[in-house]
Amino acid sequence: MKIGIDKIGFAAPGYVLDLADLALARQVDPNKYKLGLLQSQMAVAPITQDIVTLGAQAAQAILTNEDKAQIDMIIVGTESSIDQSKAAAVFIHGLLGINPFARSIEIKEACYGATAGLVLAKSHIAQSPNSKVLVIASDIAKYGIASAGEPTQGAGAVAMLVTADPAIMVLHDDNVCQTRDIMDFWRPNEDKYPRVDGRFSTVQYTDCLTTTFAEYQKRTGKKLADFAAMCLHIPFSKQGLKGLQAIGKEDEATLDRLTARFHEAIVYNKLVGNIYTGSIFLSLLSLLENSQALKAGDDILFYSYGSGAVCELFSGRLVEGYQNQLDNNRLESLNQRTPLTVEDYEALFFEEIQVDETGKAINIPTDEADFALIDIQDHKRIYRKK
Ligand code: HMG
Repeated sequence: MKIGIDKIGFAAPGYVLDLADLALARQVDPNKYKLGLLQSQMAVAPITQDIVTLGAQAAQAILTNEDKAQIDMIIVGTESSIDQSKAAAVFIHGLLGINPFARSIEIKEACYGATAGLVLAKSHIAQSPNSKVLVIASDIAKYGIASAGEPTQGAGAVAMLVTADPAIMVLHDDNVCQTRDIMDFWRPNEDKYPRVDGRFSTVQYTDCLTTTFAEYQKRTGKKLADFAAMCLHIPFSKQGLKGLQAIGKEDEATLDRLTARFHEAIVYNKLVGNIYTGSIFLSLLSLLENSQALKAGDDILFYSYGSGAVCELFSGRLVEGYQNQLDNNRLESLNQRTPLTVEDYEALFFEEIQVDETGKAINIPTDEADFALIDIQDHKRIYRKK
């Protein structure tokens, strides 16, 4: 049975910070961000937007009423949870009006979570071919003001509908994973922002890729030259490029070809920043919507990496007519976001919800987005769908 990605959607909050302005404020050469990290802008979420509203927005963009009736599992991959017990998928299930007889869960393993969701979705469809599974990767990446990670921050969600006979990509059965118990990036419960061993994390990202790729080649017999493109986890675009170069250095012609595709695959990531578990799928969306070189039948290689660390290599094949499932106006929507000054960004991004002694929010502003957090009462988050 052919199983894979039938639809893919994306949502980002309505505010954006230009990294040239951030560089100026932090007294850093703007080229460090633009060329050193290969990043241009950062998506910024107000307190009325979180993983639930962004995830619901990304899913709403792709789902029909028929899909909502057929979905019997919702998986949200995230490391920016809004509750330690209740899964974001349950809130999203309610907001979207999905079939009540569905399973709704949240998966966590840093930036790798949604890839695990995709694998679980595929197994579920193999057992139950008429089902549809909604996999959402939703995150808000915050490192703190003037931290080394600050220019890599971002916010957004990618939603994928996984089905039998998918309209975009069939996933192959060639997954190879690796787990390494390391502390490169983590967030203890008592901390608001992650702790990062930045340089160590970049070395681990690449080393996990090269060692897993060696095992992948051994088990599958596939070579880098067999792929039309590669999508990697993109914490910042330069990291992905370095990963590709690390496994491609022995085949210059293939590396040149895949590097051209790589630049098409980071068009959106450069404008959004790190959206953690969704970054690799935002890169897929960017590739599909910005590459003229791809065609049905092409195989794409994926490298998912989540700090801590778990990584996975897998691949998929583009389906005839995949172009019909895409949105050709996405850059235009991204360009319509409200630009922020650094001062506004600092106020907005690091603002926190205040609650009174009864558990009621006292500082939630109005938000005109289709999905928004509108109140907290008795410590319960209340969302609105327009
Ligand atoms: P840093 O240490 O401030 O930057 O932050 P740097 O000094 O390493 O410079 C960055 C690059 O800019 C270098 O390029 C410089 O040479 C260049 P490279 O040598 O590496 O190719 N540069 C310039 N280029 C042009 N003109 C200039 C200029 N100045 C410098 N004037 C660091 C870098 C990665 C440490 C920081 O961004 C950070 O801590 N980021 C967060 C951690 C991270 O993203 N790690 C990536 C791997 S781990 C991962 O992917 C998982 C993650 O997504 C979390 C999860 O799984 O949940 C993070």
